[in-house]
Amino acid sequence: VQAILTQATLPDVSDMARLTSPLEALFELEGKHVVVSAAPIRLPSGETAGFVALFRDVTREVQAESAKREFIATISHELRTPLTAILGYSEALYGGMVGPLMPTQSTFVRIIHDNARRLVAIANNLIAMAEAEQGRLRLNYIPTDPALIAAEVVESFIPRMKERQLEWRLEMEDDLPLAEVDPIRIRQVLTNLVSNAVKFTYPGGRITVGVATVREPGGGPPQYVRIWVQDTGIGIPLEEQPCIWERFYRSENPLRAEAGGLGLGLSIVRTLVEAHGGRVWLDSAPGKGSTFTILLPLRRPTSLLPHTDEDVYPTIEQAIGL
Ligand SMILES: Nc1ncnc2c1ncn2[C@@H]1O[C@H](COP(=O)(O)OP(=O)(O)O)[C@@H](O)[C@H]1O
Ligand SMILES: [Mg+2]
Repeated sequence: VQAILTQATLPDVSDMARLTSPLEALFELEGKHVVVSAAPIRLPSGETAGFVALFRDVTREVQAESAKREFIATISHELRTPLTAILGYSEALYGGMVGPLMPTQSTFVRIIHDNARRLVAIANNLIAMAEAEQGRLRLNYIPTDPALIAAEVVESFIPRMKERQLEWRLEMEDDLPLAEVDPIRIRQVLTNLVSNAVKFTYPGGRITVGVATVREPGGGPPQYVRIWVQDTGIGIPLEEQPCIWERFYRSENPLRAEAGGLGLGLSIVRTLVEAHGGRVWLDSAPGKGSTFTILLPLRRPTSLLPHTDEDVYPTIEQAIGL
């Protein structure tokens, strides 16, 4: 055992005789993944008489997990290609590129287009989840007009908002500066937020998307851009608010079955916003509606704050006095 552990170069377990508390570790040895669980055997005198160690070969589990991720990533990419063709051709039809359509035809084409877009959004979320899990999430920072993205995302939901008899509104600050962000990811973030707002708001409600800059309290040039998606929908009870960011979490609510969804949207919103060095939060009350706000640095962050520590982020909000 000693020899195996030494070979596995696990300095902290290589001298197991000195083990004072139970230990569990995963290591690779000769191409195999092994979990070791070890604990000291204590004599009543307090002396350590030895240890028990259990070795479990988890190679198959580890391989299955990585095959599953690979599968999700591949299938999502494969889905996106034909969907892009469906989107392109239905846009061409709807736009009258091959001649005028009868009203019913154009309604049907629009339904095809809208649903293809929903599938693309699902595929994009699965791809982002797989990338984040594999640590392969790379951002492509480009000077971007956040108001333009917000307006385009809202526009893409107009058919669905009309169908659900929702009103919508844009609140954009004038002369917004460009933000150094990954425009594709920010579009995905806003798509997920607006999609939720539309799903969880009853007919007659209203959705507002706003964009504004944020300065440090001392003045100076703006440091952040704030984007909010507000709805007058069902709201989220306080006790559920921490859970909604978890993967596959969908809260119990009257619209849940009707609305559909995988419960991935918000976990991806958080992952993508934090990858930008930003922050996202929620204000919501049942029956009143919800406001999701994201705060993004206007400049690409040179070094990211570690986001494992829960209370790193409130300091950003405090810093800008929100
Ligand atoms: N705007 C909103 N209003 C009310 N509830 C919301 C809103 N956005 C998200 N939620 C709640 O959070 C859950 C998780 O959202 P999300 O991760 O986007 O998953 P999905 O949209 O697939 O259900 C939703 O199922 C819903 O219960
Ligand atoms: Mg969603």
